[in-house]
Amino acid sequence: MHTRILLKVFGCFHKIERGDNHEKCGYCFFIHGTWRSYSNVTSNKLRRSYMKIRDYREEDQASWLRCRVLSFMDSSYFDDVQRDREKYDNPVIQIVAVDHNGVVGFLDCEYEEKQGDVCYFKGDRGGVIWHMGLLPDYRGQGLATAMWHAAKKRLKENHVHRVEVWTQDDLEATRWYLKQGFVFKEAYLNAYLKGSLGDPTLKKFLNLQDCGDIFGIRSLNFEAPIERKEELADICYRLHEVRVYEAEL
Ligand SMILES: CC(C)(COP(=O)(O)OP(=O)(O)OC[C@H]1O[C@@H](n2cnc3c(N)ncnc32)[C@H](O)[C@@H]1OP(=O)(O)O)[C@@H](O)C(=O)NCCC(=O)NCCS
Repeated sequence: MHTRILLKVFGCFHKIERGDNHEKCGYCFFIHGTWRSYSNVTSNKLRRSYMKIRDYREEDQASWLRCRVLSFMDSSYFDDVQRDREKYDNPVIQIVAVDHNGVVGFLDCEYEEKQGDVCYFKGDRGGVIWHMGLLPDYRGQGLATAMWHAAKKRLKENHVHRVEVWTQDDLEATRWYLKQGFVFKEAYLNAYLKGSLGDPTLKKFLNLQDCGDIFGIRSLNFEAPIERKEELADICYRLHEVRVYEAEL
């Protein structure tokens, strides 16, 4: 009984269902420090019977934050870890996909009350998808599409006519946005350099004489025009295209 309660506190039902091999449960990540496939926990059938697409609630916060970290782990946003839920300045539609263990997917879309308040491009009243992701083992079942349809319905009810999204060069996400009718508009680079202080490339990018006493550069992260892609690809240890897409509703 005691184990049962303890496991419920951590959002894990694996031991209750299987009774063994508790370490294989994805939701025990924070106990065991490793991410393992959630498919070991329960069957697709059982998952679907609990699955709901609904509005985010305050009490989802911890589960939402954990889901975001794990959903981005295999994407170019792996190091974009958010430890608190932001407060939006404008109205926002926050949709989650949940099963009996908590949040497994999320989509936040902030939208304008006044034109120009949220969007990068000028035009009709618009919104921006700031966060979207699904835990890896819940992908390919139409859950992101279902969350997007729920968000779109609400956006239209609020007279929002277009939505923008900023995303990097992840194939899965790019394919998904294109399939939903998003159209590529423009891009810039998200570039990362590192090295020792004697490195001629770093010297070119930094005025090291004015830096004071430092030992080396762990990571120099900067944005650059897309036209510099070829040149920066040769010297950066990490380089992403950041692309903005737009969809008419
Ligand atoms: C991009 C992402 C959110 C898509 O989520 P998803 O839930 O897998 O998306 P969907 O299931 O709606 O669509 C994906 C595929 O499932 C298919 N699908 C849709 N409904 C389905 C259903 N009922 N059963 C089975 N498959 C289905 C879709 O046709 C699509 O396949 P296709 O592209 O080969 O045609 C997800 O890959 C992800 O979280 N990626 C990492 C995080 C990330 O990059 N986020 C974006 C940052 S801006």
